[in-house]
Amino acid sequence: MALFLTEEEKAILNGEQGEARQFAMEVLTSVATSCNAKRLIPVQSVHLVLHTYKSCFDAGVEAAEKIAAMGAKFTVPTTIDPYGMDAEDWKEAKTPDHYAEMQIRLANAIMSMGVIPYWTCTPYYGFTVPRFGEHLAWTESSAVAFANTVIGARSNRETAIVDVCCAIVGRTVETGLHLQENRYGEVHIELKYDRPLSQWEYGALGFRLGKLLGNRIGVVTGMQGEPTHENLKTLCAAGAASGSIALLHIVGITPEARTYEEAFGPNKPTETISITEEDMLQTRAEMNTHRGENVDLIAVGCPQYTINEIVGIRDMLAGRKVSPSVQFWIYANSFAIAMAERMGIRKELEDAGVTIRAETCMIISPIHEWGFKVIMTDSGKCVHYGPMECNAAMVFGSTEECVEAAVAGRVLSEGEIA
Ligand code: F3S
Repeated sequence: MALFLTEEEKAILNGEQGEARQFAMEVLTSVATSCNAKRLIPVQSVHLVLHTYKSCFDAGVEAAEKIAAMGAKFTVPTTIDPYGMDAEDWKEAKTPDHYAEMQIRLANAIMSMGVIPYWTCTPYYGFTVPRFGEHLAWTESSAVAFANTVIGARSNRETAIVDVCCAIVGRTVETGLHLQENRYGEVHIELKYDRPLSQWEYGALGFRLGKLLGNRIGVVTGMQGEPTHENLKTLCAAGAASGSIALLHIVGITPEARTYEEAFGPNKPTETISITEEDMLQTRAEMNTHRGENVDLIAVGCPQYTINEIVGIRDMLAGRKVSPSVQFWIYANSFAIAMAERMGIRKELEDAGVTIRAETCMIISPIHEWGFKVIMTDSGKCVHYGPMECNAAMVFGSTEECVEAAVAGRVLSEGEIA
């Protein structure tokens, strides 16, 4: 199928609007041709993942610098995933000098193109809050799943460099989840619960669904109660990590899934899978790659914590202090940290022995430099990537269990938590 280009797109491709836009259009048209797409479409915002030296290495830094040297400028609001090291104090965070130097070069190149330097995986809490039905070119898998599932915006999981090209020309390829026919449900997920999920179960459910669904679109029925934004962020992140979930229809929550029938549209479910409390306990056991009591680091904030979650940690600590035998780190973006400072909570937490790590996260920063052997977290996504990216065994628990472990200096058994 021939790719249709508007007169302006042809002019960009012919180099009439400069080298950078020509390069970006060449990349996008070649992706479009390989996807057999009919056309490119405008996007309201872009979210980049050319953000950390840990994953892009020298080649990524050099590519960013080359594109910047062409005079590239972003033409739509463009945000970016977390910084590859603690943005406030990378030296204290044991970041190697060469790593820091390359991270700063990468950041300078991307910032010269006009990125909003918000360094977060939750852009939907910041400058680029999508509306229902808007087309986006986002890369961060957890944010894509959230935008499609919770907001009803439309984004595929873009890839690094292609995302930069989308930002330069303000367009993406019309394929995948941009097309209505590709957004209907395929598999029915029947939650066999007669109560709302507890907090840890959102992460475990996402983790289980990712494994079960891969990149198929699930339609979840039986979700009780009113999950918070944070519950849904956790669920989407885990499902996008353990599988490739980019859109999940949660009936009654997803805007395109007001009913079971609406979620499936013309499709019939190819399969029905029931999930019980028992299944969730089994999933939780599978998520743990460490069984003992010992723990070195309790790390929360994947996706980065909101101010509500930071307040929650302060409340759960209730004046107690973190055991000197462990570290307790919260990852958050600059907005949440600024709020925590204004509210006096950052000081309260730091006085209690908690460290707030700014604008980065445990997975995309060089945390292995610390030599942690066991990390506990409340994140299904972190549990998935932790063994490989942090070189540590992982313990999964609720936020409350993480706080109790931080205070006790060890992982507590269920019966020990009041
Ligand atoms: Fe965000 Fe890092 Fe987790 S980018 S979703 S906090 S792995």
